[in-house]
Amino acid sequence: MSKRIVLVTRRVPEAVTARLERDYEARLNREDRLLDGQEVLARAAGADALIPCPTDKLTAQFIDQLPASIRVIATFSVGYEHIDLAAAKRRGIVVTNTPEVLTDATADCTMLLLLGAARRAHEGERMIREATWTAWAPTGLLGVHVTGKRLGIYGMGRIGKAVARRARGFDMRVLYWSRQRKRDAEAALGIEWCELDDLLRRADFVSLHVALSPETRNLVGARELALMKADAVLVNTARGGVVDQAALVEALRSKTIAGAALDVFEVEPIPTDDPLLALDNVVVVPHLGSATVGTRKAMSDLAIDNLLAYFRGDRPPACINPVTLT
Ligand code: DGY
Repeated sequence: MSKRIVLVTRRVPEAVTARLERDYEARLNREDRLLDGQEVLARAAGADALIPCPTDKLTAQFIDQLPASIRVIATFSVGYEHIDLAAAKRRGIVVTNTPEVLTDATADCTMLLLLGAARRAHEGERMIREATWTAWAPTGLLGVHVTGKRLGIYGMGRIGKAVARRARGFDMRVLYWSRQRKRDAEAALGIEWCELDDLLRRADFVSLHVALSPETRNLVGARELALMKADAVLVNTARGGVVDQAALVEALRSKTIAGAALDVFEVEPIPTDDPLLALDNVVVVPHLGSATVGTRKAMSDLAIDNLLAYFRGDRPPACINPVTLT
């Protein structure tokens, strides 16, 4: 029997490439060139499955042009805001993602940013590189320690809980808001639920852990930022679109809040002339949440497991839109 054809839009870890090539006829992108929609469509001719990334925009228009042979889209990400699920459903295309395997890496990245902002690591690094560090100083580059501080977690899903666990390890007090109260997490982690505005008013650090959707777009805007404490820091490892970036720049400039620590941006890569990057009170990393060797391997394996299950006629382990399987 001829092998199924799988189109992968970006370079994936080598161990995974080997697995793909063993089980499928894999159309790879070894040079990792960013392909536009038309190029992906051209490569997709006759393929059975597509493995895209958040850098690919699978709009309704794009999905409508996919060849009829494509039965499954297995995104290499937990987030799926880049895929028009309704359009996929209309075409009877199954969509899967990679939850759970990146929870710890993303929670670690959140703590990295939180601690980096608290201790001004980015400013210190710059001092060393620019040779402006002349001597240890009793008043030099003073930050805040996080012990006893309040972390407000916005969204208590898998990653929110993993962040709460880590923050408790740093002796932080944790408040959270999520659509549904998580009494199990409250008992297990010693965390407190509160109303959203209350969380914004009380937290020293606010960390966002919600998926991007029409409901959560610009969730944190001028009103929310104005509620935060003047010495508070906003941490975002979720999606840039959850924050109104123009309002954030204004809040940081006017010192409505003390700082921001960001892994994700409204537009990625963030343009180098973006006003955010001119501000000293902002720590940035380039969407590194899941960027560990082990995590990316696990994400790739899960994407392939999703495909294998689908082609066996089983429900994929991480199926987002359970359309009728064929
Ligand atoms: C995801 O998986 O959605 C991340 O943002 C990329 O790892």
